[in-house]
Amino acid sequence: MRINDPKIAARLGELDVELVPGTRLADLTSLGIGGTTDLLRIRKYESIPDLLNLLDANHVPHRFLGGGSNLLVGDGELPWVVLQLVPPEPGIILEGNFARVDAAADLGRTVTFCAKHDLGGMEGLIGVPGTVGGALRMNAGAYGMQIGAYVREVKLYRAADHKIEILQGNQISFEYRHTSFAPDDMMLAVTLELPSKPYKEILQGIRICNEKRRSSQPLGQRSAGCIFKNPPGASAGRMIDDLGLKGLSVGDARVSDRHANFFVNAGRASARDMLKLIADVRERVKKAYGVTLENEVVVWNG
Ligand code: EPU
Repeated sequence: MRINDPKIAARLGELDVELVPGTRLADLTSLGIGGTTDLLRIRKYESIPDLLNLLDANHVPHRFLGGGSNLLVGDGELPWVVLQLVPPEPGIILEGNFARVDAAADLGRTVTFCAKHDLGGMEGLIGVPGTVGGALRMNAGAYGMQIGAYVREVKLYRAADHKIEILQGNQISFEYRHTSFAPDDMMLAVTLELPSKPYKEILQGIRICNEKRRSSQPLGQRSAGCIFKNPPGASAGRMIDDLGLKGLSVGDARVSDRHANFFVNAGRASARDMLKLIADVRERVKKAYGVTLENEVVVWNG
């Protein structure tokens, strides 16, 4: 989708929004897959309501992009523009056990920054790529923890109300890889309450999680993390592995040899290849176990 109207482009400038025409989303996603559209980089949170009113008034569909690490984007010319917050510096303010973090801040850096100030709890998230906003929206978790447990306050743009609002932690429901945010809500900042722990102890936890991740996940390859959610009481990775599907490929989209719930882009995979592989594996699992695996990866296709 292209913004060709010079009046819209001029207004974007006034709102301090940078228009990057013809951006390849393959370059902005960890899978390295995704077609082309105009990217709007937002520098000032306060301009978001005006920006979205501008887009709505001109019938410009849009999507919000975080770190692009849990995302499968369709091929070709995309039918919406993409909005992304420009990462702030430093993006994290600490006060006692509270960390106020901008949504565009890098998750890993946030974990280590808090650790250096003796705030722990998020060790499991080390090695999870993406932004804090993305982790918040998905209630990212690993090794027995989920980020939702630490959320005390969220600042967001609520699409339904067309304004920036603050929600308390207890107004949001956090479930396994799911939250009560609406799909078009945009995360802006979060306040986390983290337990005090000596840095050395946190570092030890981080090392253990890093080691576990390195030994079980294909970290050097292009992926979107786990493709499917785990069904209750089971592991999608183990189910797929037990069916002997590691290495199964459609074009360059391939079930990882290391962890069967990671599908990697082994070269020039298209979204079409990846979606076909996902459908194939889902069908085989359904046939063998009678279980329909649900996507964990977010799909933007059409
Ligand atoms: N397993 C296999 N073969 C495989 C993969 C796993 O036999 O190819 C077995 C493992 O040996 C283990 C069990 O399945 O006994 C569970 O595997 P693992 O510990 O890797 O956990 P998982 O359930 O596959 C979940 C999360 C990961 C998270 C890890 C660690 C989901 C869908 N996945 O994986 O999160 O990193 O636990 O806590 O919940 C993600 O969200 O993208 C993600 C990767």
